[in-house]
Amino acid sequence: MDPHSLTDSVLASFDLGDTRRNQVISALIRHLHDFAREVSLSHAEWRAGLQFLTDAAAITDATRNEFSLISDVLGLSSLVDLMGSAPDATPGSVLGPFHVHGAPHCPNGADLQGAQPGQATLLQVELLSTTGTPIAAEVDFWQNAANGLYAQQDPEQPPHNLRCRVLTGPDGQLRLRTVLPQPYGIPGDGPVSQLMRLAGRSCMRPAHFHLIVAAPGHRTLVTELFLQGDRYLDTDAVFGVRPALIVPAVEVSDPAEAARQGMPCPFLRVACTLHLATTSSTSEPAPAP
Ligand SMILES: [Fe+2]
Repeated sequence: MDPHSLTDSVLASFDLGDTRRNQVISALIRHLHDFAREVSLSHAEWRAGLQFLTDAAAITDATRNEFSLISDVLGLSSLVDLMGSAPDATPGSVLGPFHVHGAPHCPNGADLQGAQPGQATLLQVELLSTTGTPIAAEVDFWQNAANGLYAQQDPEQPPHNLRCRVLTGPDGQLRLRTVLPQPYGIPGDGPVSQLMRLAGRSCMRPAHFHLIVAAPGHRTLVTELFLQGDRYLDTDAVFGVRPALIVPAVEVSDPAEAARQGMPCPFLRVACTLHLATTSSTSEPAPAP
């Protein structure tokens, strides 16, 4: 056996009983072996790689996934998102490590800010099919607080602070009162942050809202909305920014409009339209985060 015939032996040893699975595992093995041959991977380097993954496993728990972060900073998450985005639909963007299943259901128009600090923000999102038809959808929404932390990072916040699931009506209009999200650094205590420091890369992400929009007959959209003018738009640590996802936060200082919207004065309005592809417009299955 030599370094090339070994690859053939490994390939021949796998039959996962499914054409697609076999295609994926075979390509993974071929590329992995090609990578090791290309760089003449040493034993010490191989062990360092395994230690990196071991360290990632040690810091991963139910609320913190370092493997998701590895995928994000290597651009794999964004590559999968971009390949899975339909041409006329709003592009997908990274799910990120802070999504949690089972966020509370809130009525459309809910006030997520309550008494907490932060710039009062009215988020208004119109959900349309790529055909232009309004969509009734379930929206899973989450963001960080005014201190830059997500709820699971901050014992001072209630467990589901600034997270909710909302059903929109047939008009496809989502409306939430919330706070302006803040730029934040990806977690700095794990192996990914060490890698970023070694590479001289910024760990910062521009401020964003996270949304998962699910509607019958449409591809589920996992995406983010970024704020125009954010200083980290061009250096997002996880490559999540797309031009179509950058939205302005416009200050509204008209007391009458604030009263109409049930907002304090002044407040910020973030308004945009998201387009979802119909399931018939692609052969890809809807992603299931
Ligand atoms: Fe995030």
